[in-house]
Amino acid sequence: MSGFHQRVFSGMQPTSTLHLGNYLGALTNWVAMQKTHECIYCVVDMHAITMWQDPADLKRAIREVTAAYIAAGVDPKQSIIFNQSQVPGHAELAWVFNCVARLGWLNRMTQFKEKAGKDRENASVGLYAYPNLMAADILLYKATHVPVGEDQKQHLELTRDIAQKFNNDFGPQIAEHGLGTGELGFFPLPEPMIQGPAPRVMSLRDGTKKMSKSDASDYSRINLTDDAEAIATKIRKAKTDPEALPSEEKGLEGRPEAENLVGIYAGLSGSSKDAVLKQFGGGQFSGFKAALVDLAVEKLSPIAVEMRRLLADSTHIDAILGAGADRADAIAAPIMREVKDIVGFVRSR
Ligand code: AMP
Ligand code: TRP
Repeated sequence: MSGFHQRVFSGMQPTSTLHLGNYLGALTNWVAMQKTHECIYCVVDMHAITMWQDPADLKRAIREVTAAYIAAGVDPKQSIIFNQSQVPGHAELAWVFNCVARLGWLNRMTQFKEKAGKDRENASVGLYAYPNLMAADILLYKATHVPVGEDQKQHLELTRDIAQKFNNDFGPQIAEHGLGTGELGFFPLPEPMIQGPAPRVMSLRDGTKKMSKSDASDYSRINLTDDAEAIATKIRKAKTDPEALPSEEKGLEGRPEAENLVGIYAGLSGSSKDAVLKQFGGGQFSGFKAALVDLAVEKLSPIAVEMRRLLADSTHIDAILGAGADRADAIAAPIMREVKDIVGFVRSR
């Protein structure tokens, strides 16, 4: 990726309270990447309305997700934190990408199929075009690295396809305006960063299903706002199997619930599954679960407390989002102007 300035972009939808999957699959990586990269972290409110959101709930959720980013360790002074709808370039570039991406590409998106369900005719057009908006989010900043959970991999591949097609379709104009980065074209092909021991956290009730905000059972997930009591109950009730824990990672094969809990422990403690099994291998789940409760409470409770503190002052949160939007727009606006020149729009004011 040499030639492009290294820049991180990622986002989460303000559709409900964040859970442990969001935290281990994405947020912990976001926090770590601040040490090495310029980072832009977005609350993607325009993505949220691809499915019906009560407007008052949406406002609350935007502030809550912002608070979660900060409470988890994203520093708003260093990184840019903002909500998508405050920077007009996202919608503008998404429209251009609606005209670059092909129907056949979008028809392959599994997230759309899952979310639209059986009643596809009744899904919003926005839900279908969602991946184009996501590509716009990333490429509006020419971001090179995108830390996400594993479920977003397909969308990242689409983003790369869109970047490549734009670079090809408009190759002569990019060259003519002198806007390419060497042989690489106008847009970088962003790299997904799917990292850590828990890139896919599974439901506590069923180790074959992703931990998700849409699961009907609250016992399936640990919310970042859960108190110590709730965390402890959910882990104690988490599904396991009758065997003892293995001493090596290989022994987790075919044991999705065991693998999930070990992955969660590794993620929360910043170690690896192997290291966790060295410590707990051979033991029963009861002892391991007790240790996991302690660890989860130790790591997650301060986040819930800090979120509550931040949410008590919505003016402060809104000020952070406003300042972030200004900084984001300062990067995005010149890139969007170049896109318009490349595409052939006339700019006369
Ligand atoms: P969402 O809540 O779907 O907007 O997801 C926000 C971020 O969290 C994305 O990067 C997802 O890939 C990640 N994520 C969501 N659920 C999980 C999960 N169960 N395991 C790991 N990462 C997840
Ligand atoms: N689609 C992502 C999700 O559901 C959220 C998202 C929107 C995103 N735009 C993004 C993630 C850009 C990374 C980069 O989780």
